[in-house]
Amino acid sequence: MIGQDQNKAKKQIQQLRSEIRYHEKKYYIDNDPQISDYEFDIKIRELKKLESEFPEFITPDSPTQRVGEQPIEGFVTVEHSSPMLSLDNCYSVEELQEFEQRVKKTIPDEKIDYVAELKIDGIGISVIYEEGRLSRAITRGDGLRGDDVTANVKTIKSLPLTINKRRKTEVRGEIFFPFRSFQQLNKHRSETDEPLFANPRNAAAGSIRLLDPRETADRHLDVFLYSLAIEGKENQDQWEILKTLYALDFKTNQISTLCRSLEDIVAFYDEWREKRDSLDYDVDGIVIKINSVKQQKNLGRTSKFPRWAISFKFPARQTTTKVNDIIIQVGRTGALTPVAVLEAVKLSGTTISRATLHNEDEIRKKDIRVGDLILIERSGDVIPKIVSVMKEQRTGNEKVFRFPDMCPVCSSAAFKPKGEAVSRCTNPSCPAKLRESLLHFSSRRAMNIEGFGEALVDQLLDMNLVTNVSDIYSLKYEDLVELDRMGSKSARNLLKEILKSKKRGLFQLIFALGIRHIGERTAIVLADHFNSMNKLMHASFEELIEIPDIGPIVAESTVFFFRQSENLDLIRRLKQAGLIFESSRKGNSEQGPLTGQSFVLTGRLTYFTRDDAKKNIEKLGGAVSSSVSRKTAYVIAGEDPGSKLEKARDLGIPVLDEGDFQKLIS
Ligand code: IVH
Repeated sequence: MIGQDQNKAKKQIQQLRSEIRYHEKKYYIDNDPQISDYEFDIKIRELKKLESEFPEFITPDSPTQRVGEQPIEGFVTVEHSSPMLSLDNCYSVEELQEFEQRVKKTIPDEKIDYVAELKIDGIGISVIYEEGRLSRAITRGDGLRGDDVTANVKTIKSLPLTINKRRKTEVRGEIFFPFRSFQQLNKHRSETDEPLFANPRNAAAGSIRLLDPRETADRHLDVFLYSLAIEGKENQDQWEILKTLYALDFKTNQISTLCRSLEDIVAFYDEWREKRDSLDYDVDGIVIKINSVKQQKNLGRTSKFPRWAISFKFPARQTTTKVNDIIIQVGRTGALTPVAVLEAVKLSGTTISRATLHNEDEIRKKDIRVGDLILIERSGDVIPKIVSVMKEQRTGNEKVFRFPDMCPVCSSAAFKPKGEAVSRCTNPSCPAKLRESLLHFSSRRAMNIEGFGEALVDQLLDMNLVTNVSDIYSLKYEDLVELDRMGSKSARNLLKEILKSKKRGLFQLIFALGIRHIGERTAIVLADHFNSMNKLMHASFEELIEIPDIGPIVAESTVFFFRQSENLDLIRRLKQAGLIFESSRKGNSEQGPLTGQSFVLTGRLTYFTRDDAKKNIEKLGGAVSSSVSRKTAYVIAGEDPGSKLEKARDLGIPVLDEGDFQKLIS
């Protein structure tokens, strides 16, 4: 017999789940959030709490169960209920007309309507619902069989875990990486020295095949659905399918249109070929589908393609140019990266004059020579890459590039460890390393020293004013005021900025040290765990890998870093300079003096960027919301505050100025 408490909890759980589902749909599908992220988080936390007290009510379709706790062993290959076909391609209006003629041959004298959709450059997926619950998700694979990637697909927030349909339902669509998430991912990977994904499609394919669904959840994939088969109800036209999918709470691409003629299709194609860069995801063309399911059946398919659909591809974002030179850049970790200096060309709106060559192997593999004509490509907002060399255009004057065996900046030996692709300068005091370390240390997301840019760093190095990152804190007014373009006011401001940076949090300092493989997120994890630089410095490999989210690569790199005498020396000097070595926050990221309090920022702050203010609040357990409501604890108002200030006053919410805010967080 179910007790009173249990009954109450069950009801609360059901209520919370339906609220959460509603808000997930509003946020992830309709792009029309009804509550702040903070309020949404509170609901998730309440549900988690109730479910941990009453685990008997946890169901696999609860919004808390999107991410399992355990990595999976590997993928099981599963057969598709019907083949996942590919599409025939065409590249011109003439070819499109030929497609229509082929269609009309099979179904003469019939009026034909088409649905035109965008062709998403992602990876095909089939998702099956049984008894209203997501039961299985399978990659396209070879079209007949694919991998069961259910645990990973469940982490895609726009995909419902339950639907209001008891009959077996199969939906198909395209998983993709939104550009914004893709850029964040590659930024994080470059900080942690991991290889970058060449384009969002590769990143989506890699992410859906990760063995740990918790990692996939961090990647923020998304999915558009375009095909639907409900058991016993297979007779819907394509246009109806799109509407039914939407009604079932699936994310469908709203950019699709019912076309009565080829002209309508070409107009849609022309419009989106022009506007494709305004989208937050990659599209490589449009897909034209005959609307009527009856006509589709009449047309049938070949072994690979349906005869009732075709894709009309956009021209590739590619162009040709010449390699004028190959230079070597030395990074913060001493990595020698070859860069191709190109004859400037325009490529989808931007002028391109450089392309990264990644490493020596890449140059050799593609046989890139100075003087070569090459084909370059841009995908998303990524640095262009060299697709191929036009070898038939060679004149014989092209020069093979010899990768240097010494650092081009300090002439010390370069060393490529066995099994690695990258050569590194072996000199710990290489000026190029120091230059990059100074820039990283002072960058916005590290110690955030405003005004500490390339021009200043180059001068400081030229004048021998810094030989070590910690020398930043020994710079004097007399040194600075002598520099180019530095009046007494700028020198004073810079010193103020340097002083201010001493107050940055422990995680910013850990990130600023530039330890290999430690990006901003890992720095937060380490600061949260140890709360002290001293403890981190003495942590053993075993201790480090015990921490959730820290793997052997980070652990090894951390231990290695704190074993180097020059690094220990640097830490000692930073301590002497008065930097913060302890974190004020204890315990996990959700706990702190501001836990449960929601802040709203309005107007311009003088001493904090928005990002900084947010980080400070979150570090202390608080949350930042974009709109004022009765639940807002404080509004922080800077210069020229907006309407949020008025709203706060109307609702009687306390308003803090920047000074009050500083006091509060200190
Ligand atoms: S329809 C039988 N519609 O493109 C119909 N496919 O190159 C098959 N794709 O395998 C697919 N956007 O993974 C369709 N709006 C769209 C699409 C789309 C992207 C992918 C799909 C397909 C591949 C063919």
